[in-house]
Amino acid sequence: MDQSAFDKQVTALREQRAAAKGTMREAFAADPNRFERFSATDGDLLLDWSKCAVDAGTMAMLEKLAGAADLEGRRAAMFEGKKINITEGRAVLHTALRNLTGKGVVVDGQDTKADVIAVLDAMSAFADAIRSGKAAGATGKKITDIVNIGIGGSDLGPAMVTLALAPYHDGPRAHYVSNVDGAHIHDTLKGLSPETTLFIVASKTFTTVETMTNAETARKWVEKALGKEAIGKHFAAVSTALELVSKFGIEKDRVFGFWDWVGGRYSVWSAIGLPVMIAIGPRNFRAFLDGAHEMDEHFRSAPLQKNLPVLLGLIGWWHRVACNYPACAVIPYDQRLSRLPAYLQQLDMESNGKSVTLDGGAVTTPTGPLVWGEPGTNGQHAFFQLLHQGTDFIPVEFLAAAVSHEPELKTHHDLLLANCLAQSEAFMKGRTLEEARAQMLAKGMKPADVDRIAPHRVFSGNRPSLTILYRKLDPRTLGRLIALYEHRVFVEGTLFNINSFDQWGVELGKELATGLLPVVEGKETAAKRDASTAGLVAHIHQLRGA
Ligand code: F6P
Repeated sequence: MDQSAFDKQVTALREQRAAAKGTMREAFAADPNRFERFSATDGDLLLDWSKCAVDAGTMAMLEKLAGAADLEGRRAAMFEGKKINITEGRAVLHTALRNLTGKGVVVDGQDTKADVIAVLDAMSAFADAIRSGKAAGATGKKITDIVNIGIGGSDLGPAMVTLALAPYHDGPRAHYVSNVDGAHIHDTLKGLSPETTLFIVASKTFTTVETMTNAETARKWVEKALGKEAIGKHFAAVSTALELVSKFGIEKDRVFGFWDWVGGRYSVWSAIGLPVMIAIGPRNFRAFLDGAHEMDEHFRSAPLQKNLPVLLGLIGWWHRVACNYPACAVIPYDQRLSRLPAYLQQLDMESNGKSVTLDGGAVTTPTGPLVWGEPGTNGQHAFFQLLHQGTDFIPVEFLAAAVSHEPELKTHHDLLLANCLAQSEAFMKGRTLEEARAQMLAKGMKPADVDRIAPHRVFSGNRPSLTILYRKLDPRTLGRLIALYEHRVFVEGTLFNINSFDQWGVELGKELATGLLPVVEGKETAAKRDASTAGLVAHIHQLRGA
């Protein structure tokens, strides 16, 4: 990173933003080619950022910013397996998990490709055996339900993908238990039979308290119904901590490993994707990996001006740093992507929610935004009011498929798309006071009422949004979309000059929870805690009648 060139560019972009005049509505009116100028495609994937407040000058300056941050150098370092996760001394190679045809990367003397293929083959054999009934439960019955027990990256990825690829399910039903709240496992197991249920304990570290607590409860559930000897047929595990898994008692041939160069939130492509593979079959799972690999190649080789993850990252940086927008709403007009915002929350916020630069100093710009969202059209009837007329501007990212999986319900899909397009148009155009008044007068309202109500019906417009369009949500497309977002997070992290691959910020709460457990249990006093914590504990005990 050329720090002084970078800082200069940040200042120039901020100044450009502060000096910007005119609205997007005016920009569209002045330039009939605005869409062509500010959209790009990779195959059938289209990114349209023309409804963001940028011009050709901004884009050129953002590109220069990427140059000063040595984005291309850092990208190469990631793909080559350099240990860019400097606080944990690890390579960052989720891209190697989906590179099944190209050259492998050697990390610490070990060829990643050989390892990746070996685990993928083992997963495929296991998935086929479960799906066919060859690997049956202890009483000989075919497995009908799998329950993945994991949290964070060991849950959000496979849970999101399972839902997204529902049309491809032809295997057992997949359920996900993550929360340590007993309600989660209780309600999940309620409708299941131990004889036909397989648990997959998914934990990179195999120490995460939520996962281990839920796994214990699951083991007791199976043991109670079928006896201890049944455990082997009803459990599998996915982890990098193979010794801990073996201590838990899961048979060796049902343990699928991955490596420390796969971050938890980047692990859906690894054995963490096992429940997905069991649900949709190994062939579809490979198509999902192939799609991600296609995006990797695009990210690696497309020129910056046409590179979708780079463009998405540059726009994200522009919104966060130059425009100072604190949040970003992800709104898939695709019901099956309803868990995408939650997935992206971990991907983006755990990666880029940092305040320290790579060399340990304080960051000089804001870093990752608050990422949140819900599917459209549902969001329209809940929080879009604030997005249209609230006092904060929150950039919106729309995602939509041109073609649905339900041709017989085409009317639904046309309505869905019309709403998606309407919302982005409304954010950009808004409605002036004159337009509001004219509309009301045309409807025959009394002038006095028009005067009173018209201000409430004004939309500022000029609110940024971008749209990602794809043909259909199939495994390959989903792989491309997720990889697009992964690389976008990388691009933004590079521009923030932070390590996007550690997550020290989750540690403190975990440590304190360990210390507080005996206090909650009543085995230790809360006297040494702060007054609020002590007061809350006392109240819990009082409510419990202890
Ligand atoms: O809470 C943070 C975290 O470490 C995430 O990064 C990770 O995805 C999750 O916990 C689960 O960790 P594990 O897979 O080791 O159980």
